[in-house]
Amino acid sequence: MSVRIAPSILSADFAALGQAVRQVAAAGADWIHVDVMDGRFVPNISIGLPVVAALKNVSPLPLDVHLMIEEPDRYVDAFVEAGAASLSVHVEADPHLHRTVHRIRHLGALAGVAINPGTPLTALEAIAPDLDLVILMSVNPGFGGQAFIERSYERLARLRDLLDRTGSEAEVIVDGGVDPERAEAVVAAGGDILVAGAAVFAAPDPAAAIAGLRAAGQRGWQARATR
Ligand code: DX5
Ligand code: ZN
Repeated sequence: MSVRIAPSILSADFAALGQAVRQVAAAGADWIHVDVMDGRFVPNISIGLPVVAALKNVSPLPLDVHLMIEEPDRYVDAFVEAGAASLSVHVEADPHLHRTVHRIRHLGALAGVAINPGTPLTALEAIAPDLDLVILMSVNPGFGGQAFIERSYERLARLRDLLDRTGSEAEVIVDGGVDPERAEAVVAAGGDILVAGAAVFAAPDPAAAIAGLRAAGQRGWQARATR
């Protein structure tokens, strides 16, 4: 295994999503990160089920779907059916995490839980052993292109400890404000999968941005492996 890159199509041209997906796939991206927002859990409204289904038809890469919605348990069946290879819900939005996570796995997708910058990591403690993925938010969710919150490095290290301590094999996705300049430190601190929206799609050369993220991520991976 090595570091994986998941461009977030939130920052792509919504009128040309198919092209954006093909472009980053050709540039060596590993997953496509799809941000679903409902205007309630987060202030913004982005995309929903029909867009996920349409992306599934054109994407050669797995769709990593991040639900930033209230009552996510009502929608997990539909999102897996639409084509989510991995599906994450927010710990803050779901009082029935255990049920939701096991439902996602039962449906055949990887199950993840996302956690906001202001939520204590201990909220993950009970569910950690059952997870395939944790999304550590390094911005407050809702919008692409926000600044990385510096304290996320420390949270990453503590999340890593929590996963070890609970016997969890979950992989850690870092989401928000990740760019090639930060990628090495983010992976060194414990990130396995890097989500990047603006750093890829607002870059003059998205392929070069993906290559930069990967190269920096690999350096971070080495640093972690030799520690
Ligand atoms: C934030 C989303 C992120 C975001 C990442 O609400 O969950 O996936 O699109 O975009 P950047 O990399 O631009 O912060
Ligand atoms: Zn996201």
